[in-house]
Amino acid sequence: MSSHIPATETATMLAITQARYGGSDVMRLGQVPRPVVRDGQVLIRVRAAGLDRGTEHLMTGKPYAVRLATGLRRPKNAVPGRDVAGTVAAVGAGVTRFVPGVEVYGVAPSAFAEYAVAGEEKLALMPAGLSFAQASVVPISAGTALQALTVARVSPGQSVLVTGASGGVGGYAVQLAVSLGAEVTGVCSRAKTDHVTAMGAHHVLDYTRDDWADGTRRYDLVLDVAGNPSARR
Ligand SMILES: NC(=O)c1ccc[n+]([C@@H]2O[C@H](COP(=O)([O-])OP(=O)(O)OC[C@H]3O[C@@H](n4cnc5c(N)ncnc54)[C@H](OP(=O)(O)O)[C@@H]3O)[C@@H](O)[C@H]2O)c1
Repeated sequence: MSSHIPATETATMLAITQARYGGSDVMRLGQVPRPVVRDGQVLIRVRAAGLDRGTEHLMTGKPYAVRLATGLRRPKNAVPGRDVAGTVAAVGAGVTRFVPGVEVYGVAPSAFAEYAVAGEEKLALMPAGLSFAQASVVPISAGTALQALTVARVSPGQSVLVTGASGGVGGYAVQLAVSLGAEVTGVCSRAKTDHVTAMGAHHVLDYTRDDWADGTRRYDLVLDVAGNPSARR
């Protein structure tokens, strides 16, 4: 193992913990053991942790189906958080892409803490010009949007509709689809139409007024991020 952790540091750390499911009031600040880095893993000194919608599902335990994986009565993992940006503090045996001291971002369980551990494949070098706070809200939401657009093989000139365009995933989907050369329509609430336009959408529909599935407009791709429309629509 290669490490940058000062020898004077103790093996505990500050973390946000939750003993039960609920709103943000279940969160507490406490001391927990610092995670140990294993082969193929990277120990990150967390500088910023993002709050994506999935982390909120894990905090509330809703929809209830998530509890089958995360613990029926209480969270199995007491430290929430997934999106992360920080500095590599140590690397386990076999890690080849990172060395202690470099800045990384990606997905690490229990990211709401001073340190978090992630598999090497879950991280990337942080792009120059991004702050830690900016980088920490990219991985899950942008990764989801990019995966969807990649699977759909979006090409220049195609018309793409994105629901939930003002949200985490949809906001990245709008910007990425525009950068791929698509003609993009974003669907959001009226209050956020300016925001979606500012992200580059060519057209914006207000879901409280416009029905994007009424058959008057056709799209090469509908990226259905929000609103739970029926399959028939
Ligand atoms: N499978 C995965 O890996 C993965 C990863 C990330 C997210 N997700 C899921 O994707 C969903 C969206 O996540 P997110 O992070 O983007 O959430 P978010 O930031 O809360 O965004 C949701 C957006 O949906 C919009 N919306 C609400 N009702 C709508 C309607 N009837 N029609 C169109 N848009 C509507 C909201 O717009 P207004 O604010 O303008 O009302 C909001 O901006 C969540 O269910 C999340 O769990 C899955």
